[in-house]
Amino acid sequence: MSDEKYLTFALGKGRLAEKTLELMEKIGITCTEMKDKGTRKLIFVNDDLKLKFFLAKGPDVPTYVEYGAADIGVVGKDTLLEEQRRAYEVLDLGFGKCRMCVCGPAKARELLQHHEMIRVASKYPVIAKDYFYNKKHQTVDIIKLNGSVELGPIVGLSDVIVDIVETGSTLRENGLEVLEEICPLSARMIVNQVSMQMEAKRINEIISKLKEVLNMEKNS
Ligand code: PRP
Repeated sequence: MSDEKYLTFALGKGRLAEKTLELMEKIGITCTEMKDKGTRKLIFVNDDLKLKFFLAKGPDVPTYVEYGAADIGVVGKDTLLEEQRRAYEVLDLGFGKCRMCVCGPAKARELLQHHEMIRVASKYPVIAKDYFYNKKHQTVDIIKLNGSVELGPIVGLSDVIVDIVETGSTLRENGLEVLEEICPLSARMIVNQVSMQMEAKRINEIISKLKEVLNMEKNS
C-alpha cells in the first residue's frame, strides 16, 4: 500500500468544487483541509487515502487532466466543449445543471431564421462557432467577451449572445430571452487517458461508487 501512487483531483473553483466534495464525502473520500474557507493553500492531501486535490480555474481543469498533472477532473460540460482537451468523460455528476443557449431580444428571433450575417457575443467562441457554422450553416461574426455577456445586445455590440442560462433571471432582468437551445449542461468527471489505464482499478472503483450514490439520489 505504501508505494501506491497518489491520485490527483483537479476541481473547478467555486460551487462546483463544493458540490464535488459533498458528493465525495458520500463515498468516504474526505479532505478536511479543503473546507477551511480562509485558506490560501492550493493543494490538499489526504495521506490515508493517497489522494491529492487542487482547485483551479474551470477552463484550466481539462488542461491539467490532459497533461496528466491531475488524474481526475471535475468541470462543467460547457468548459469541456469549449476547451476541446483530450480526456475521457466518465460521469455526469448531475449537479450544476443549466443550458447553453442563443439569447437576445425577441426581435432578434427572425435573424436566426434566414441565415443572415449577424454578430454573436460569447464567452464560448468555440461552442458558438460550432453551433452556427456546423449545425445551422449560418455564417456569423463571433465576438469573444469575458463575462456579463448579456450586455452585448443591450449596448449594441451584438445581435445575440451564446451563453449559459440557469434560472433565466439574468435574461429576464435585462429584457432578453432564450431564442434557441444549443445543449444541456452539467458537471462532468473527466479522467486522464493514461491514468485510466495505469490506475484503472482505483479509478473505476471511485466511478462505480459515485454512480451508486447518484442512482440512489435519483431514485429517492
Ligand atoms: C452566468 C451566465 C449568465 C448567468 C445565468 O454568469 O453567463 O450570465 O450566469 O444565470 P441565470 O440564468 O440563473 O441568471 P456568471 O454569474 O457566471 O458571470 P459572468 O457573467 O461573469 O460570466
